[in-house]
Amino acid sequence: MPIAMITGATSGFGRASARRFTAAGWSLILTGRRTERLEALKQELGKQVDVLIITLDVRDAEAVTDAIASLPSDFRPLKCLVNNAGLALAPEPAQKVNLKDWHTMIDTNVTGLVNVTHAALPLLIDTGVGASIINLGSVAGHWPYPGGHVYGATKAFVEQFSYNLRCDLQGTGVRVTDVAPGLAETEFTLVRTKGDQAASDKLYRGTTPLQAEDIAEQIFYIATLPDHININRLEIMPTRQTWSAFNIDRD
Ligand SMILES: NC(=O)c1ccc[n+]([C@@H]2O[C@H](COP(=O)([O-])OP(=O)(O)OC[C@H]3O[C@@H](n4cnc5c(N)ncnc54)[C@H](OP(=O)(O)O)[C@@H]3O)[C@@H](O)[C@H]2O)c1
Repeated sequence: MPIAMITGATSGFGRASARRFTAAGWSLILTGRRTERLEALKQELGKQVDVLIITLDVRDAEAVTDAIASLPSDFRPLKCLVNNAGLALAPEPAQKVNLKDWHTMIDTNVTGLVNVTHAALPLLIDTGVGASIINLGSVAGHWPYPGGHVYGATKAFVEQFSYNLRCDLQGTGVRVTDVAPGLAETEFTLVRTKGDQAASDKLYRGTTPLQAEDIAEQIFYIATLPDHININRLEIMPTRQTWSAFNIDRD
């Protein structure tokens, strides 16, 4: 059975993707920091497919390299890497942000993503034709909005890194996609507001946001396209989300 590695599998898109790949019989390497959630997922999905769980903070380059270098031989033929672990913090304006929050976003969304990619690339290249790297970008990487500051910038990095990776992987058969979701109801806003459930509920209330399963379906679709097709970037918004007018400062 093909093998997928999913970072940030303890919640949201990552957990929904784990379930989607399981339904198709894939073997899974699932990572995240919350061990009890990984164990629960292994308990749930391990009845149907082979599941390896690894408690891993993607910001820790050494731990990431060691974890991937010591994968058991039956989990090494990696077909798909879903670089999903990520977060937004500090919804307030840039001038009010705690610098630590900017660093955490960069360390996770940029450094963490390249840590995992660097470690997994040899395995994906060994698999070659049909392998894929699916990076979770965001509409925030393209479209600025108040409070987007470093989060949007990290997702712009993910987009450009995805394209540049494609150039270097030319000839290996490994595909790379930047998946860029819009408003999606997960634990994302709870994390962004540091646990403010009311603020999270308010953001999603009265509209129809994307659900984690919607994105998981797209990730699975990309991973199982015919070998000769590479989707470079897939931007997905809820029907009820669009852009807004420029904001003009007036006297
Ligand atoms: N929801 C949205 O509106 C939206 C839109 C566009 C893009 N995205 C992107 O989609 C991805 C998934 O977000 P989500 O909406 O599913 O949010 P979520 O429900 O909060 O899930 C985020 C996942 O990332 C993991 N994670 C965070 N920091 C980590 C670290 N240092 N090391 C390892 N794992 C870490 C979390 O696991 P642990 O806490 O257990 O480590 C969790 O499993 C993120 O990259 C996010 O930026 C989300």
